[in-house]
Amino acid sequence: MTQTDIIASQAYWDTRAPAFDDQYNGLDVRQMVTARTLDLIGSAKGKTILDLGVGTARLYRDNFQHFGHAKEIIGVELSGEMLARAETGMKDAGYHQFSSLNASYTEMDIAENSVDVVVSTLSLHHITDADKMSVLEQVTQALKPDGRLVIADQLNCTGDELTAQELQKKMVQTFFPEVPLEEALARTGHHKEYTCSLPGFASMVAELGFHVETETISDFVGIVAARRIA
Ligand SMILES: C[S@@+](CC[C@H](N)C(=O)[O-])C[C@H]1O[C@@H](n2cnc3c(N)ncnc32)[C@H](O)[C@@H]1O
Repeated sequence: MTQTDIIASQAYWDTRAPAFDDQYNGLDVRQMVTARTLDLIGSAKGKTILDLGVGTARLYRDNFQHFGHAKEIIGVELSGEMLARAETGMKDAGYHQFSSLNASYTEMDIAENSVDVVVSTLSLHHITDADKMSVLEQVTQALKPDGRLVIADQLNCTGDELTAQELQKKMVQTFFPEVPLEEALARTGHHKEYTCSLPGFASMVAELGFHVETETISDFVGIVAARRIA
């Protein structure tokens, strides 16, 4: 990811931040992602969790019962506007163990063997497949042996080869179902996305030494849940 890409993505997410929770909270697909992500993470008690693209920290704010006894939750987030909402929201929700890293996850530096669970929901499609691989390499070294990786993302789960334009149309229909198509395309059109296939992403994770399971949430949203082979 070049510095120009990072600055452009940061600016895009800063403008999306004020309306983000209202736009996404009610979506069925988002609720399904949340429910399955919680199940696949399992108990968070005493664990150190690293979240890539934490956004407004909605996953944690809405699920204090699940994450309230985590040892530490580290949220990596490019957009200062998203992160400001995360920090306030996490305090209001009662968390004392949230720390934030205002950076691109393509440039983070996390200590080796320091993390029990790496989570990411609906964020990694913002970087190229080559960048995904280097982020995965970085989190692999950050994870403790037997550590858990749960990544829910925009992924093509259909098995069909689709052009970038076709994928973008499917994505806005998935994430902006109530907005007229042309308006939704205009809202997101200038922003780059790199959606890969569910099996393709699962293979990238497996290549790094993980036992991998996959789940399909919808045609264009999938989950890769993996455990690092100790
Ligand atoms: C669709 S939102 C999802 C936010 C949150 N994970 C959720 O599920 O509510 C995508 C988030 O990823 C963040 N993001 C995109 N590219 C990033 C990068 N390279 N490094 C860190 N965060 C990034 C955006 O700023 C945005 O907050």
